[in-house]
Amino acid sequence: MKLAVAGKGGAGKTMVASTLSYIFAQKGDAVYAIDADPNPTFGQALGFPESVLCTIQPVISLKELIRERTGAGDSREEAAGTYFRLNPRVDDIPDRYCGTHRAIRLLIMGATRGPGTGCACAENTVIKALVSHLVLRVGETVIMDMVAGTEHIGRGTASGVNALIVVVEPSNRSILAARSVLDFSKQIQGLCCRIVGNKIRSVDDKDFIRDAFPDYTVNNFISWNENVLKAENASVPVFDTCPDIVETLKELVADLEDARVASLAHSS
Ligand SMILES: Nc1ncnc2c1ncn2[C@@H]1O[C@H](COP(=O)(O)OP(=O)(O)O)[C@@H](O)[C@H]1O
Ligand SMILES: [Mg+2]
Repeated sequence: MKLAVAGKGGAGKTMVASTLSYIFAQKGDAVYAIDADPNPTFGQALGFPESVLCTIQPVISLKELIRERTGAGDSREEAAGTYFRLNPRVDDIPDRYCGTHRAIRLLIMGATRGPGTGCACAENTVIKALVSHLVLRVGETVIMDMVAGTEHIGRGTASGVNALIVVVEPSNRSILAARSVLDFSKQIQGLCCRIVGNKIRSVDDKDFIRDAFPDYTVNNFISWNENVLKAENASVPVFDTCPDIVETLKELVADLEDARVASLAHSS
């Protein structure tokens, strides 16, 4: 399964992505957790010890490797930033540069240059190629904790993504951000999207989110839960301390697996 988790900052993407990672790992899947947020916190949410986290080099910081793989800066024209290889070799990067904790492999992408995808610099080219490689490679489960949107997912890569999970809290700003992610993903044909309502305190909160997305069926709601913050402050994964959240996200996973089986049956 390949999943991308998106939504406004603070909505709960990292909490959801980390809990999903453990749900798949518990099933015995080989899980790659990809932190594509410029302010990486996926590792903390997964409960990675600092001693492991500090050994993970963000891909964006691998200047020598990026130069070597893209050829950027190899010649005078390339030094001007004009030419570099658009399909750099990346297959060895995941294993070389990930950190592992409780069988989850974590890769940190780091802050990319330029707003969104627009920047076609060598660093972004390597990151896109890497995401594409992991998403299209058969076998592992990949859970991507995205920035606000889906900038790292190109159209070609999107064909390998099983679902985009948009986390939304009951606030207008969060809903606006979620809408723009969903609108963008409509351009990607056949991409399965699911909305997860988070920080829910009342039935009104659920209705507020449901009413905001009339084109979608919103079935997965996570309550406001003080234990989430406690887990964060104790550097413990929510998976270990919040069984209700785990239950809700297991239902989401079951639903995604059904949708995947249905789409495979449809395409064969
Ligand atoms: N269901 C919840 N109940 C209470 N606090 C939550 C809940 N989900 C997330 N939080 C808290 O909200 C903050 C943002 O969550 P995070 O997962 O980091 O969001 P994002 O990755 O979207 O920026 C964190 O401090 C987290 O502990
Ligand atoms: Mg986050």
